[in-house]
Amino acid sequence: MTMKLISVPSAPFSGQKPGTSGLRKKVTVFRQPRYLENFVQAIFDTLSGQQGKTLVLGGDGRFYNDVAIQTILRMAAAAGFGRVLVGRDGILSTPAASAVIRKWQAFGGIILSASHNPGGPDGDFGIKYNLSNGGPANEGFTDAVYQRTQEISAYHTVDAADIDLGRIGELHIGEMLVTIIDPVADYAELLESLFDFERIAALLARPDFRMRFDAMHAVNGPYAHEILERRLGAPAGTVVNGTPLPDFGGGHPDPNPVYAAELVAALADSRSGLSFGAASDGDGDRNMIVGRDFVVSPSDSLAVIAANYALIPGYASGLAGVARSMPTSCAVDRVARELGIPCYETPTGWKYFGSLLDAGKATICGEESAGTGSSHVREKDGLWAVLYWLNILAVRDTPADVIVREHWQRFGRNVYSRHDYEGIDTAAGDRLMNDLRARLPQLVGTLCNELRVAAADDFAYTDPVDGSLSERQGVRILLEDGSRVVFRLSGTGTEGATLRVYLERYVADASQHEVPTQEALAPLIGLAETVAQIAANTGRKGPDVIS
Ligand code: G1P
Ligand code: ZN
Repeated sequence: MTMKLISVPSAPFSGQKPGTSGLRKKVTVFRQPRYLENFVQAIFDTLSGQQGKTLVLGGDGRFYNDVAIQTILRMAAAAGFGRVLVGRDGILSTPAASAVIRKWQAFGGIILSASHNPGGPDGDFGIKYNLSNGGPANEGFTDAVYQRTQEISAYHTVDAADIDLGRIGELHIGEMLVTIIDPVADYAELLESLFDFERIAALLARPDFRMRFDAMHAVNGPYAHEILERRLGAPAGTVVNGTPLPDFGGGHPDPNPVYAAELVAALADSRSGLSFGAASDGDGDRNMIVGRDFVVSPSDSLAVIAANYALIPGYASGLAGVARSMPTSCAVDRVARELGIPCYETPTGWKYFGSLLDAGKATICGEESAGTGSSHVREKDGLWAVLYWLNILAVRDTPADVIVREHWQRFGRNVYSRHDYEGIDTAAGDRLMNDLRARLPQLVGTLCNELRVAAADDFAYTDPVDGSLSERQGVRILLEDGSRVVFRLSGTGTEGATLRVYLERYVADASQHEVPTQEALAPLIGLAETVAQIAANTGRKGPDVIS
């Protein structure tokens, strides 16, 4: 069946520049006529060789997901794709999309998500292109897409009605085949190949072990129901907030102690009978791990995951290396040193891990922002991290908090925290960063709040595989005692600027490990204020979110 191609005249929108993870804007921005179409056309124009090939398409189910999917399907037909694999109801978690791209050797994929940002008509929306390796496109590609958005004069679509995405099966849009797939099946099969499901099932069946998984009304609900409750036999009710909602129930689907406070409180209350808690974000790639009255910091989680690789079937043969984003704590570096494997330090954003994973240089990667993952896909993976922890707990028969404390005893503790100043004035954020950059050379060697500055720079990264250079990735102030303060502006926000201040101090002495985090970091918090004049620059007395 041939179908009428339609070219719709268009003109560029300003600001269609992908950030840390694709293009993120308010739904109200995306709903402007031609806005989404322009960006999708720019992606398709930047590709070459897609004729007859397979595209994977899905999203986290947030508001506007359904409309955008239909638009993109028609445009994919016009762009000459031979087939689109789309999740039922337009649903695919970010890691599941990556798994599907890889399993079916697709040409690439489009993921509709704004991750952990709120959804709904006044919330956020986002769109991201992933390459055939299953990972986010690199900066070279996203820069080219942005260039293209600035010169676009038309988009191309076909004359076709919306299709019913509610049932698994196949249909056509013109000559393009649309295969509606079970969004969970391929992904669940992949996880089953990595972890000891029998052992985890035995743990979940124990009367003295009770777990809660909070899906935060986001995409991982169906994944967690299938994997935890059906395949692993966890009691019904283990998964809470398990139905994806277009506005995430009005919440902020970000698994941290602020937005997942209920889960943290339940684990802190001995009457709940819970021994282990976990959560994931809007699109299912972030995770939070909670023990009894104990939130595992994501940087520690990465280190524990690396240190316990030998217990996990999919990794027991050894890790090629590990990688962390620059602001992530150096806890995993210590594990790598002991294992005698390389540890790579990359800029923020999962896209930088892709080339290391593809080249077989790293097996496990992680970020302080609750992202952990491995070479099984090319995205961070929330449920993967949860199963990895469950597998560790099942083998070691030790509570999560004790596992972390024992880890600190062995490696020392990298006390760590991130302070976020959200929604500050964009110009104020830029001014703060520019002032800081200008002062870096003078800072070295000086005594600041009684801490001596050993080095200060703006992080730059040369990819060891393809040699590409990424500059201005965050200002680092390194102290003589090994502590660090890092400053950077968020690249995922949709309104104003968010300043992130990352604080880290290494404490070897086990008798000091239980000192509360903010207290242990107080000298660094003071130094950050002195050096960056945060209050004067932003008008804020303190951070909005401490994680
Ligand atoms: C944030 C996190 C970063 C993560 C990204 C996408 O980016 O800090 O680690 O990769 O979200 O989930 P940022 O807003 O800091 O640019
Ligand atoms: Zn996410």
